[in-house]
Amino acid sequence: MTVESVTSSVEIGGLLFAYDQRVLEPRPWTRAQSEWARDLLDEVPDGPVLELCSGAGHIGLLALLGNQRPLVMVDADEVACRFARMNAIAAGLVDRVEIRHGQLEEQVRPSETFPLVIADPPWVPSDEVGRFPQDPVLAIDGGVDGLGPTRGCLHVIDQHLDRAGCAVLQVGGPAHVTGIGEWLDSRPSVRLRVSETRAFGDRGVLVLLRRPSGDEPC
Ligand SMILES: C[S@@+](CC[C@H](N)C(=O)[O-])C[C@H]1O[C@@H](n2cnc3c(N)ncnc32)[C@H](O)[C@@H]1O
Repeated sequence: MTVESVTSSVEIGGLLFAYDQRVLEPRPWTRAQSEWARDLLDEVPDGPVLELCSGAGHIGLLALLGNQRPLVMVDADEVACRFARMNAIAAGLVDRVEIRHGQLEEQVRPSETFPLVIADPPWVPSDEVGRFPQDPVLAIDGGVDGLGPTRGCLHVIDQHLDRAGCAVLQVGGPAHVTGIGEWLDSRPSVRLRVSETRAFGDRGVLVLLRRPSGDEPC
């Protein structure tokens, strides 16, 4: 049986975002990630924003309000990329947005650097995705420990973050923050540190990543 997709929309931060059941429904609380990113844009060098795991695109698009930065969005789901484009057009931002469809590790050119990276990878452990039947598996499956795609994001951030740049990464909870800290501690070649976290109850945690002291400060 084919399930017909019905386009819905949600207003977040003054913009309207379209989506359907094939992609993750944009969650209003995550505008906090856009707002934090927007604040950080005042202090990082000039240049484009990179958004990894952009889905229907609301987090990155909201981060563009009030500034003139370009945005590169990356997502492995073609349908999500189509919604991101549609939402960029509706927001009047499409001229500043480049949408790249594919695996996050393969979509950034070796020479590219970004002063700000936003990342929202899936983080539900694979054996728990059944608890969220309404969500597409690709959007939530974080691998055995929930941190597989997050580690992928950390690699991309490390390779492409400006020396004076910052990244705002979304994870599921404090255990993920601990896991990220331990993973970074065990890989000194990865030049990132957890600088600050902001928790949003049981909805998620935002993690600010910077270069370690000794590298140029953000
Ligand atoms: C948690 S959802 C976040 C989507 C969007 N930021 C939001 O808040 O609605 C994760 C997104 O990552 C994408 N994704 C999963 N694995 C990926 C990968 N390896 N490379 C690129 N995108 C991936 C999924 O298609 C999904 O859109």
